[in-house]
Amino acid sequence: MRIQIINGPNLNLLGVREPEIYGRHGFEEYLQVLRDTFPDVQLDYYQSNVEGELINKIHEVGFDYDGIVLNAGAYTHYSIALLDAIKGVSTPVIEVHISNVHKREEFRHHSAISSACLGVICGFGLDSYRLAVDALLHKK
Ligand code: DQA
Repeated sequence: MRIQIINGPNLNLLGVREPEIYGRHGFEEYLQVLRDTFPDVQLDYYQSNVEGELINKIHEVGFDYDGIVLNAGAYTHYSIALLDAIKGVSTPVIEVHISNVHKREEFRHHSAISSACLGVICGFGLDSYRLAVDALLHKK
């Protein structure tokens, strides 16, 4: 089982950026916990602040990986290009957010990509990623 985790813009600053919202742990630190939780799953990780690079990664893995866990950051809310990328591949994509976007500013309530995703998980902190991997493992 191979799952690609993709983090979008500003998520390289996890642990530093707005810690009251996003927590005090960097993603690399959490990734080790995730890998220990799922020892039989190959969990690959990619982060970019550049929209086109996120699209390239979706294309690269989107036909032979078993799943993609995507936190597209702010691109979530307006990127039709990411929506089209997700629609264009066959690998199921789960949209994740660390924060509960529905409790926050109104512009975060809309997602441009949810309609192409298998499901959406938000609001559980970094544990949102574990829930997404778990959902992919139990997918029928
Ligand atoms: C986020 C929520 C987005 O609205 C925001 O732009 C992010 C992070 C989250 O994980 O909670 O960068 O995707």
